[in-house]
Amino acid sequence: MRAVLVGPPGAGKGTQAQILAEELSIPKVSTGDIFRANVSGGTELGKKAKEFMDRGDLVPDEVTNAMVKDRLAQDDAAGGFLLDGFPRNVPQAETLKGMLADLGTRLDVVLELRVDEEEVVKRLSGRRSCPECGRVYHVEYDAPREAGECDNEGAELYQREDDREETIRHRLKVYRDQTAPLVEFYSGEGLLATIAATGAVSEVTARAKAAIEEKR
Ligand code: AP5
Ligand code: ZN
Repeated sequence: MRAVLVGPPGAGKGTQAQILAEELSIPKVSTGDIFRANVSGGTELGKKAKEFMDRGDLVPDEVTNAMVKDRLAQDDAAGGFLLDGFPRNVPQAETLKGMLADLGTRLDVVLELRVDEEEVVKRLSGRRSCPECGRVYHVEYDAPREAGECDNEGAELYQREDDREETIRHRLKVYRDQTAPLVEFYSGEGLLATIAATGAVSEVTARAKAAIEEKR
């Protein structure tokens, strides 16, 4: 299964990608997570990406595309993958198509997660993340057992730099302007499946699995 998750910031792409990747036994490839790991590790890639991420802008395509190409060339992605956060604009989608064609393959499905902007702002302002395992929580909707601590190893949860309200609003604008056109692009390719990303996490997962099955 080669699948892409598309949706605005806070739609629950990361949350669903984690669950679906495990259930489908394919690796989750999250460009946001890879960038954040590089920023905290102080790598050259991280230095290139940081200023764009902090502002809520897209990292330049040549940086992002090269990173994804390397990641998809790794052995564990040979049998399939779930992309979370890539592609993010039509040129990236064209690049992905070319990369997969070079590998003799193509996408199976693009799952669009739909949620309105006010819900997104609520979700992102309450999000807390684990620096150790990457698990994402919400102070109200998906709280850890101990406030401020990861359930897995008790690591202290942190709030993302780009989850301040002003930056959230900017990320939503970037989504509308640059990423939303992918919906039409993938609809034209016959790959699009759209689901409502509201309700409980488990309800969204059930809808996602049904939509993926239908495209298989
Ligand atoms: P990225 O990390 O991809 O951020 P994003 O797309 O803005 O998405 P988020 O991670 O904010 O949200 P999500 O949809 O994963 O939601 P989550 O599951 O966490 O990208 C960050 C930056 O990196 C970009 O701005 C850009 O600079 C750069 N970048 C990344 N990819 C790039 C690319 N391809 N090209 C260029 N630049 C790129 O959930 C959010 C919250 O809601 C959590 O607290 C969660 O617990 C809660 N929640 C989830 N589901 C539910 C539910 N059903 N009900 C209630 N709460 C829920
Ligand atoms: Zn953890």
